[in-house]
Amino acid sequence: MNQTTRKVYLALLNQKGQAVSGEKIAESLGISRTAIWKSIQELKNLGYQIDSIKGSGYLLGSSDILNPDEIKHLFNKNNLIDSVFLVENSESTQEDAKSALLKNTPNYALFIARNQTVAHGRFKRAYYTETDHGIYMSLAIKPEKSFQEMPQYTILTAVAIVTAIKKLTQIEAKIKWVNDIYLNQKKMAGILSEATTNMESGQINHVIIGIGLNFAIQQESFPVEIQDKATSLFADGQPTITKNQLIAEIWNTFFELINQPFIDDYRRDSFILGKNVSFIKNGIEYQGIANDISQTGELIVTLKPSNEQIKLSSGEISLKHFEH
Ligand code: BTN
Repeated sequence: MNQTTRKVYLALLNQKGQAVSGEKIAESLGISRTAIWKSIQELKNLGYQIDSIKGSGYLLGSSDILNPDEIKHLFNKNNLIDSVFLVENSESTQEDAKSALLKNTPNYALFIARNQTVAHGRFKRAYYTETDHGIYMSLAIKPEKSFQEMPQYTILTAVAIVTAIKKLTQIEAKIKWVNDIYLNQKKMAGILSEATTNMESGQINHVIIGIGLNFAIQQESFPVEIQDKATSLFADGQPTITKNQLIAEIWNTFFELINQPFIDDYRRDSFILGKNVSFIKNGIEYQGIANDISQTGELIVTLKPSNEQIKLSSGEISLKHFEH
């Protein structure tokens, strides 16, 4: 959209819920009524829902078009994200965030994309995406903290996702240690946190938190090999909220929780505790019961049959099998 159209869009957005007259927008932006009319047509062509209310003016409705301005508009006062970038033709928002961090970016910058060509998850696994039907985003952070001082970002993000979904939809998603979000016993979202260290100071200089969330991918459109493993928040393809709303709510919740103890919320929302799990460590398969999650986010497992307790850190293993 061109600059004038963006300004008109912002004028409508700031009045959200109320109609605003073309005359008033024209006056505040110092442009002609004809230019306003053209911008309104452009917005409608882009898919925005704008009603003309007789005697009052234009009313912006709700549409599910990924829009950084709307996302920022929905951020609350705790939210520290200074910039939101919509990346056209992204290979991976994770890589977009990494290249931006090498330049002059603000402390918290969010990169979002309608799709990605080379999306990946943990252990470099490919991540399935569908244009406009998923949320694909990466937050670039410059923490300048030592590893020990840093918040447990993956744990925090998992709680933020589940809490935001519950608040906006009443849907109760669950966490599968450490970075997966499940719904109806299938994976609905994944988190990929990466960090780079400054070798001289030992400080973490960059953190990138990536989220891939199957938003309205229809259940039958997942590839056959992941049909019974993956699902969407709205697997019937009928969302009751917009992607912009959920994106903003996830990061609002993230910044609300960041200075609070959130590990209890993580335990509460985990479905794995008390269940049988198996995992491979150093090439050997182990089985046991997932008992607890430590203050620092490790999974505490009582091995079978030895009854030995071990702590699993997320970097070294992923669970192979687990009960639901
Ligand atoms: C996982 O399931 O292991 C994590 C999946 C993370 C996918 C997201 S999509 C946005 C960002 N870009 C990527 O390439 N990966 C993350």
